[in-house]
Amino acid sequence: MSISSNVEVLDKRTLIDPVDINTYEKQVGAPFIDSLTGLPNHGFFIMTLDRETKRSERFGSSISVGLINIDCFRLLNKSKGSVEGDRILRKVAECIQNSIRQVDLAARLYGDLFAVIFTESALENAVNAAERIRLNIEKTQNKMVTASIGLSGYPRHTKKPSSLLQEAYAALIKSKTKGKNCISYATETTNKVDTIAPNVLIVDDIPKNLKLLEGMLQPLRYHVLKADSGEAALDIMSKVDVDLVLLDVMMPGLDGFEVCRRIKNDPRLRIVPIILVTALDDSKSKIMGIEAGADDFISKPPNKAELIARTRSLIKLKQINSNLVDIENVLFSLARAVEAKDAYTQGHIERVSNLAMVLGRKLGLNEKELEALKYGGILHDVGKIAVPREILNKLGRLNEEEWEVMKSHSIVGYQICLPLEKNLGPALDVIRYHHEKMDGSGYPDHLKGKDIPVVARIVAVTDIYDAIITDRPYRKGMSRKEAIDILLKEAEDGKLDPEIVQLLVDHLTSK
Ligand SMILES: [Fe+2]
Repeated sequence: MSISSNVEVLDKRTLIDPVDINTYEKQVGAPFIDSLTGLPNHGFFIMTLDRETKRSERFGSSISVGLINIDCFRLLNKSKGSVEGDRILRKVAECIQNSIRQVDLAARLYGDLFAVIFTESALENAVNAAERIRLNIEKTQNKMVTASIGLSGYPRHTKKPSSLLQEAYAALIKSKTKGKNCISYATETTNKVDTIAPNVLIVDDIPKNLKLLEGMLQPLRYHVLKADSGEAALDIMSKVDVDLVLLDVMMPGLDGFEVCRRIKNDPRLRIVPIILVTALDDSKSKIMGIEAGADDFISKPPNKAELIARTRSLIKLKQINSNLVDIENVLFSLARAVEAKDAYTQGHIERVSNLAMVLGRKLGLNEKELEALKYGGILHDVGKIAVPREILNKLGRLNEEEWEVMKSHSIVGYQICLPLEKNLGPALDVIRYHHEKMDGSGYPDHLKGKDIPVVARIVAVTDIYDAIITDRPYRKGMSRKEAIDILLKEAEDGKLDPEIVQLLVDHLTSK
C-alpha cells in the first residue's frame, strides 16, 4: 500500500487532516518518504503522531504506538555487508506494512528503528498486530532476522498521549533486555516511574561484584542493566539507550580502558558518562582512565553514598547534554531543510564545511576553530529558512526590497543558533559574518579586515568558490580556472582575504 493511499483511507475516516504527503513536503520543504524502504520517515511520523494524539485526547479515543527494532542489526550489517543490510531493512519494512491495517501508519524512524501508530486501537489490539509483525519478520527471514517490539497505549497505559512514544521506547528496552524477539508493553500508569527511569549499565566479569553494585543502586530506582564482559557491554549499548556506565577495569577480553575508549570514540555514544571502578590507590589506572575518556572514578570496594552521589550527578549531566544534542540535531535538520528549498545547492553545505576545514588546517587553526568551521560551514545559511522560496530561486536580479530580505539571513541564522552559544562557540561568528567583506562593504555589521573573525573569512571564500563552480538557476557552473580568476580578482579588489584565497588556489592547483 502506498503512503498516499494510506493517508486517503485515513481521510475517509476523518482521522487525518485532508492533506497528503506531497502537501507536507511542499510546506516543509523536505522529503517525508524514507528513500530506502518507501515508508514515511521520522518527520512525517512525528507530525502524524502529534495530530493523532491530540485528537485522541480531545475525543478520549484509544491510540497505541509500537516501536520495532531489528535484533543485532549492527552485527548483521557488519558481517553481511551494507547491501544485505539494506535488503533486510526493506524486507522488515514490507513485513510491518503487510501486518497492519490500512488505517494504521508505519514509518522508519532511523537506522533499524521502525514505528507504527495504531489509530483508534487499544493496546490489546495493538499487541495482536505486533505479534503478526514479529512472526512475519521471523518467518520471511528464516529466523535469521528477528525483531524486538515495545508498545504503549492510551488511555489505559499512559495518562498523557504525548508520552506514548517515550513509553513505547521504555517497553522496547524491556524487550531487548528480556532476550530479544519478543514484545513488551508499558506497564499501568501507576508504575510509570519505572518506565522512564534512566538506564545504568554495570560491567564486571565477577557476578558477585555485579550483584553488589546492583544492590547499592537499588534506592535510585534506575533500570540496571548488567554485562559480564566488555564485548557484552558494547553489544547492549548498540541496542539500548544507556544513561551511565559503571565499568570495571580488569576484565578478560576487552578491558575497561578499551571499552571506555570505544564508547568515547563513537559519536553516538560519547555523551554517555563512564565511571571507572578501580583499585583504591591505583593512580596509574586513573591516568590511563583519563586518557581513555572516563568521566569519573570510584575506588573498590565502592562506598554506597559516594556511588549514589556520583551516579546521580552524572546522570543529570547526561540529560542536559542529551537535550543539547537534540537541539543540535534539530538545527542540522533545519540546515538541510533550507538546502532542500533550493534544488541547485544540493551538497553545498557539506562541501563548504569540508573545504573550510582543509584551509583551516593549512592555516594551523586550533581544534575549536576547526570545529567552528565544520559546524559553521553546515549552518552558515540556516537563516534562509526565513527567506521565501520565490526570492531564493528568483531567476532575475533581486529588487531592493527582496535583497534586504535575502541579506537578513545572516542575522536570522545567528539568532536561531544563539541559544546554543556554549556549544557552537565561534561557529556563530561564521553564521553572522560570512558575508562581511575585507573593505567593510559586506553585511550585516560592515566589519573590516582582521576584525572579521578568521573562521568567517575562510567560509566566505569556500562559500563563494562552491557557488561559482556549481550550476545555478540562471547559469551553468563555471570551471575551476574561472573560479580561481574570480576569487583572485575579489581579493585584489579588497573583498576577500588574499591570504586565504591564495591558500585555496594553492590547494586547488596542487591536486
Ligand atoms: Fe549566506
